[in-house]
Amino acid sequence: MIENSVKNILEKVKSAHTLDRSEVVALLNFGGEELIRAADETRRQYVGDGIYIRALVEFSNYCTRTCFYCGLRAENNKIHRYRMNPDEIISTAKMVSEKGFRTIVLQSGEDCGFKIDELCRIVEEIKKNDIAVTLSIGEKSFDEYKMLKSAGADRFLLRIETTNKELYQKYHPKMSFKNRLRCLDDLRTLGYEVGTGSLIGLEGQTVGMIADDILFFKKINVDMIGIGVFIPHPDTPLGVTAAGDFELARRAVAVTRLLLPDINIPATTAMETLKPNGRGLVLEAGANVVMLNAAENEEYKKEYSIYPDKAGINDSLDLSLTKLKKTLVPIDRNILISKGFRADNKAV
Ligand code: 5AD
Repeated sequence: MIENSVKNILEKVKSAHTLDRSEVVALLNFGGEELIRAADETRRQYVGDGIYIRALVEFSNYCTRTCFYCGLRAENNKIHRYRMNPDEIISTAKMVSEKGFRTIVLQSGEDCGFKIDELCRIVEEIKKNDIAVTLSIGEKSFDEYKMLKSAGADRFLLRIETTNKELYQKYHPKMSFKNRLRCLDDLRTLGYEVGTGSLIGLEGQTVGMIADDILFFKKINVDMIGIGVFIPHPDTPLGVTAAGDFELARRAVAVTRLLLPDINIPATTAMETLKPNGRGLVLEAGANVVMLNAAENEEYKKEYSIYPDKAGINDSLDLSLTKLKKTLVPIDRNILISKGFRADNKAV
């Protein structure tokens, strides 16, 4: 009975790329290998076998926020805080560009230590290389987003984390769900390619809430979706709660691919951290993007501890690239040298 209904739902979504809430819930609960295969086929059909690689630069771990799950939260005084200086960020960008990366992702905590003019100057300098710039620096005003766009930023990542307002409020004290939506809206208005996403496995989260997250992604039709899985960090209020379910998060990636067939979906580091070859398994379930950490200073990588024991924490960028290539051989996928915009997927 369940098997039949999963089959019917998959038939529908493969051609129409729409589902109602109860169908999303059914796939998240009961989707097996058939779901994964359907997502993989859709990925091949719409975005091809290429993998877009992005160089990730975590340029500051200072954060004014107190998100319950995150090791960078302001109240965690056990971590050592660092801030790369502008020249260091700019020279790292030059290095990754020379290595062939065509996208750099600049990520930080919500650090008020960087003034907007300084961030704009960094973006302008980096744009002198032939590279797309993605920012992942949190909530800003419309005018600040506008200045960064004018400076040359191409994309912005801001996960909604959860679309359930109560859960959002519980885990993001003194933050506003409404403002987060405003940010996503402003970014789209300003012409950024926009990425969002959610965390799977927060205590109190139900499969229905995850279905709502995915339907939200579909509704706002964003260009990128990063789905992470919760990993407890000991120095946070959620430090003793259980980690998220890898398989559920993988199914969420698969359903997201089926509903938004042409978008970019990363195989996130959290998935690789939770399970050996997690990244490969997610690339077979609809994902087509990998972000590799470009830090040259080993200490920065360790101190950017959103969650503990991050996969690849001791690997140089070159070694990460070698490991990724090894992962791609058995699944017949290849790295693309491309800025990898959503619009580029249409050319496949
Ligand atoms: N486990 C997994 N992912 C986490 N993030 C923050 N803390 C954790 C954690 N403990 C994710 C958030 C954020 C992204 C940069 O890292 O979803 O958006």
